[in-house]
Amino acid sequence: MSALDSLRTAFHFQPESNWMNDPNAPLYHNGLYHLFFQYNPNNAFWGLISWGHAISSDLVHWLYVELAMQPDQWYDSQGVWTGSATFLEDGTLAVLYTGFTNESVQVQNLAFPADPYDPLLRKWNKYVGNPVLLPPTEVQPTDFRDPTTAWLGADGLWRMCIGSKLEGNGIAILYSTSDFINWKIDNHYLHEVEGTGMWECLDFYPVLKNGSPIGISTSRYGAHVKHVLKASMDDSKLDFYVIGTYDHQSHTFTPDDRSVDLGRGHRYDYGKFYASKSFYDDKGERRILWGWINESDSMQNDIRKGWASVQALPRQVWFDADTESNLIQWPVEEVLDLRRSKYSLENMVLQGGTVVEVTGSSGSQWDIEVTFENPISIGNAEHNISDINQLSFCGEGNASGKGLYGPFGLLVLASEGLEEQTAIYFFFTKSNGTWTTLVCSDQSRSSLAINVDKTSYGSVVPVLKKEKLLSLRVIVDHSIVETFVQGGRVCITSRVYPTLALDNAARLFVFNNGTMPIALKSLDAWKVSKVDMHAYATVQ
Ligand code: FRU
Repeated sequence: MSALDSLRTAFHFQPESNWMNDPNAPLYHNGLYHLFFQYNPNNAFWGLISWGHAISSDLVHWLYVELAMQPDQWYDSQGVWTGSATFLEDGTLAVLYTGFTNESVQVQNLAFPADPYDPLLRKWNKYVGNPVLLPPTEVQPTDFRDPTTAWLGADGLWRMCIGSKLEGNGIAILYSTSDFINWKIDNHYLHEVEGTGMWECLDFYPVLKNGSPIGISTSRYGAHVKHVLKASMDDSKLDFYVIGTYDHQSHTFTPDDRSVDLGRGHRYDYGKFYASKSFYDDKGERRILWGWINESDSMQNDIRKGWASVQALPRQVWFDADTESNLIQWPVEEVLDLRRSKYSLENMVLQGGTVVEVTGSSGSQWDIEVTFENPISIGNAEHNISDINQLSFCGEGNASGKGLYGPFGLLVLASEGLEEQTAIYFFFTKSNGTWTTLVCSDQSRSSLAINVDKTSYGSVVPVLKKEKLLSLRVIVDHSIVETFVQGGRVCITSRVYPTLALDNAARLFVFNNGTMPIALKSLDAWKVSKVDMHAYATVQ
């Protein structure tokens, strides 16, 4: 087995081989979860894209079924691109997706399950009248893609939007229909933000204003909801969201705070996480978010590995009524069933300069929850999150730097002599008398390999006055580190490619490099079991 083999994940969704990108049309139907995905079945790099398809009863164990759609029509001969699912009022499942035509035009197409009674939804029929939408004349024919799930208005019309750009501005083009076939462009865009470039993979959905984690279906509206608009920025490959109000009479969307509009405010994830898509799971009464995690190594390595990219763990997503400004994301509860033996620490004072190994912690599949006493007894939730993108602190090597409070946190996927380590840590900075809490994921020492991208990521963490603890949940899966900070208020996902800290040679440490002591309140680290993913045919 080569070192590259050890990078394959054990419990994140990925196909058996080759290239995957965006999650498509995730849904729950007749007892099964379905995940479709942008898939190149022939190579470990992006190319002629089909729709891969997998099914699961618990969002964790997956069976691969045959390709749902392939590029076999003039209107999608250069690729069956991203799309979304909508359940119509009579229960019909309709999928709208982008086709890249033989003449290099992006058009929207419809598809339906060939046999709606097949619980596996294995065969799909493309609608005979495709395409159902051509690009409007004002946009480029190659800037028109990725229809959202549709929502039903009080006027009986379905609406959805499609991402595009106009004179450098990202736009969400709004359409309506009564029959899902004949679509009419609206006289206004759902949203537009200057200078943000092409918007891909839009997502638009309601969340409960009272902060309940209960999810609601995409068509729900009223005074008790807020709406979330997410755009994947083609130029930066970052997923931004903005929270606001959707007026169901005028079909307009108004952000709560334009200073954190798309492209300058909240991101789902401050690391690698793109082209995400949510769906309403009526079994679990929750909204679940899928996101694509690309590689950060070279294409040559992807080819050597024989696969490229994974999906992040599915996350439940809801409105953070405490800060009233962001979403909370948390791995779906089914992930807890994968926890095995537990290693713990509690009530330890970490003096400045301490590095402590969690005894017995060898392995590269972990679900870790750690809390520290907040060394600063004031909150900072009012901090302006728009500073985040300029955040330079988390840059190269700073986990080994020194502050008054921090860096302190975890070293995961660390080799015995710490030659390789990924540091996830808190750090406090003070300016004009005010403290700011930062969280960083520092990849600069994650691998001795030289040909991988080791960019570090970070964010400001809003901390409420009432919150006496700082918390991290860090999920480690061979070449992925997914971090959920302060109960899911901030998320950071990294890809790392250790050469020494592989499998049982990988260890876990807590550390404090700051000057002041830090109180570790508790640490629970569970080993996570491997999930076997098979082709459906092999288990029948
Ligand atoms: C986003 C994206 C989509 C497109 C698909 C093609 O990653 O570029 O806009 O539909 O991937 O694979």
